[in-house]
Amino acid sequence: MRHAPHKLIPDSFTSLPSRTGVPATVQVVAAPGDDLDAIGYGVPQNGDVPAGLGIDRAALEGAGFTGRPGQSLIVPSGAAPFAVAVGIGDDDARGTAALRDAAATFARAAAHFGRIGLDIGTAFAVPASDAGRAITEGVLLARYSYDVLKTKPTTVPVELLQIIEADGDRIADTQSGATAGITLAAAENLARDLANTPPGHLTAVEYAETTMESAADFGLQVEVFDKAALIELRAGGILGVNAGSVDEPRMIVIRYRPENPTGHLALVGKGIMYDSGGISLKPSDPMHLAMKMDMAGSAAVFGAMTALRDLGCTTAVSAWLMCTDNMPSGSATKLGDVLVARNGTTVEVKNTDAEGRLVMMDALVLAAEEKPDAIVDIATLTGAAMRALGHLCAVVLGNNQPLVDRVLASAANTDEQACQFPLEHRYRSWLDSDIADIGNLGGANAGATTAALFLSEFVDGVPWAHIDIAGTMQSDTEDFWRRKGATGYGTRLLADLAMNFAR
Ligand code: BES
Ligand code: MN
Ligand code: ZN
Repeated sequence: MRHAPHKLIPDSFTSLPSRTGVPATVQVVAAPGDDLDAIGYGVPQNGDVPAGLGIDRAALEGAGFTGRPGQSLIVPSGAAPFAVAVGIGDDDARGTAALRDAAATFARAAAHFGRIGLDIGTAFAVPASDAGRAITEGVLLARYSYDVLKTKPTTVPVELLQIIEADGDRIADTQSGATAGITLAAAENLARDLANTPPGHLTAVEYAETTMESAADFGLQVEVFDKAALIELRAGGILGVNAGSVDEPRMIVIRYRPENPTGHLALVGKGIMYDSGGISLKPSDPMHLAMKMDMAGSAAVFGAMTALRDLGCTTAVSAWLMCTDNMPSGSATKLGDVLVARNGTTVEVKNTDAEGRLVMMDALVLAAEEKPDAIVDIATLTGAAMRALGHLCAVVLGNNQPLVDRVLASAANTDEQACQFPLEHRYRSWLDSDIADIGNLGGANAGATTAALFLSEFVDGVPWAHIDIAGTMQSDTEDFWRRKGATGYGTRLLADLAMNFAR
């Protein structure tokens, strides 16, 4: 392990992250306990104000609270439990995503309180299990913060969350949903921690050690491939991207193997620990600062894997995390160099900043060699995806519509939004190279599509979908359950996909 002298907390990752925002307990109860610090009540824009709030609509409106989604108001009653009004909007559009958002609004309003209750479910026409899951996710994701390097913590952890459910018939299902919600929020907060970690605090080598050390806790098997092993595998892409780095690359292969699996899903994650652009150095703008998160795809994959056993997933899942930084130096890959992928394809490097596809190509070949039922990759691949859809919606492309439809369904289930782009094969010629089988650079337009076309050449006919999360990997605002910084996007989506996967 490289211990750089600048590391304030050199061992910040020797044990698995803070998992901030994950409480000791989530309970579903018919009535709130008497030792809560705060209780949230859903307040619609029209209709009755819940009696528990202790004030009427006129008083709320006098304080500027109308019940719009995103609004909250603590009633300053002087003593615990404080009542918190949480806006839940109009009667229509009250689905699972709105419930998760409302729970997040409450958790944020009650940020000073560790023991909280939420009475909100009856206004939402959401099945009990989904409600328990959405409320728990909303609260725990909203209360996340990356505090590892703060000398004083900035967040009060949720010690107890009580979900108040008056309908006794719904309590058991709500509780099982809440239990899944804890697992999923913890997984996503883990992915956030990994992506928020500064590049000097988490090299590919340290990342591999971290996953290796924690694997057994999550019922996973991990195999790590170092530089010598990658040479042995003829993984020319990741080796070429790593050529300029003082830190070794790592390929981390993670396996989840339930008894009598009902299918085999392969996941591939881009793990660029820091993307400087390499010789095609990025301009020195704020974009650089975000490039510690260029491993967010791999973090989402790892996060999702940590949830599978606890969720009772019956699909076997194999994952390849392709980890290295992308640095300029005297030994770096130059423009015009030709790399050879594991399957023998020769690739002319026309831009060293298009490094993601180079590390992914070897992993896709390795995944396809195992003939899984499907391959899904996730990568912070193109600025084009971010420019097209912004921070709230990822790009999905693939060679198999039923698989893409499954990804879109999981995106909808988790409110990790995604939108399909066409895999337009007539743009393939833009990737032509004069001297090699393919170049790593497309034309000026349709950058997300040409990047996907490049990847599609390495899946050997296996059903495949690609999720470009360049935009969604981070949030620049506090937006309901999304905190500023790494979002963990894709963690819950991929876990949902694995749960609902069938051959
Ligand atoms: N990691 C970047 C893409 C990215 C940009 C992610 C912004 C998140 C936010 C990727 O490696 C990259 O540099 N892509 C280039 C590709 C181009 C050179 C073909 C891009 O999109 O500009
Ligand atoms: Mn790049
Ligand atoms: Zn990159």
